[in-house]
Amino acid sequence: MPQRILVAYASKRGSTAEIARAVAGELERQGIGTEVMEMDSVVSLEPYDGLVIGAPVYTGKLFGDVASFVRRHADKIGRIPVAAFLAGIAPVYPKAGDPMQVIGLMTAALQPVTPVAVTMFAGKLDPSGQSFAERSLTKLLKVPVGDFRDWNAIAAWSRQLPDLMQIGGA
Ligand SMILES: Cc1cc2nc3c(=O)[nH]c(=O)nc-3n(C[C@H](O)[C@H](O)[C@H](O)COP(=O)(O)O)c2cc1C
Repeated sequence: MPQRILVAYASKRGSTAEIARAVAGELERQGIGTEVMEMDSVVSLEPYDGLVIGAPVYTGKLFGDVASFVRRHADKIGRIPVAAFLAGIAPVYPKAGDPMQVIGLMTAALQPVTPVAVTMFAGKLDPSGQSFAERSLTKLLKVPVGDFRDWNAIAAWSRQLPDLMQIGGA
């Protein structure tokens, strides 16, 4: 039986969900069973040997309640390895904030769990999906528009997870 990793994510506009699916795809290529699920619909962590959790950053905060997720699954989450990623524009647009600061927010939200890895990936900004207020804000801040997701970087990060989590494939 291959070991199983759950990739749980929050996503407002879908780009973090696609990163979550790419992470899972890379793990599958290594013979690891995966499931990808919206964070709030995860009922139990019981079937999994590891967890990857992903969330985007909006106005300097995590979107998605990672701290509640950790509390809700407190019984199991402390017994499996956990890795986390963030999606946002900061890695390609420093004026949007310091990636290390939001990585700190994610690490704090995961407490008392200590993740084996936390990173921030560049995300996607699509003005067509934004509300008027969001469009005004991103325009005002001169935030660049486009898809900045680096699929090679996402795959490379994902490939090291089985070792870090000590989880093997089939
Ligand atoms: C209104 C708004 C505010 C944002 N604020 C930040 C921010 O503070 N820091 C950052 O790195 N990215 C910021 N972003 C970029 C998003 O994190 C990025 O578009 C991400 O890929 C969105 O993920 P999603 O499609 O899963 O919702 C912002 C985007 C919008 C539309």
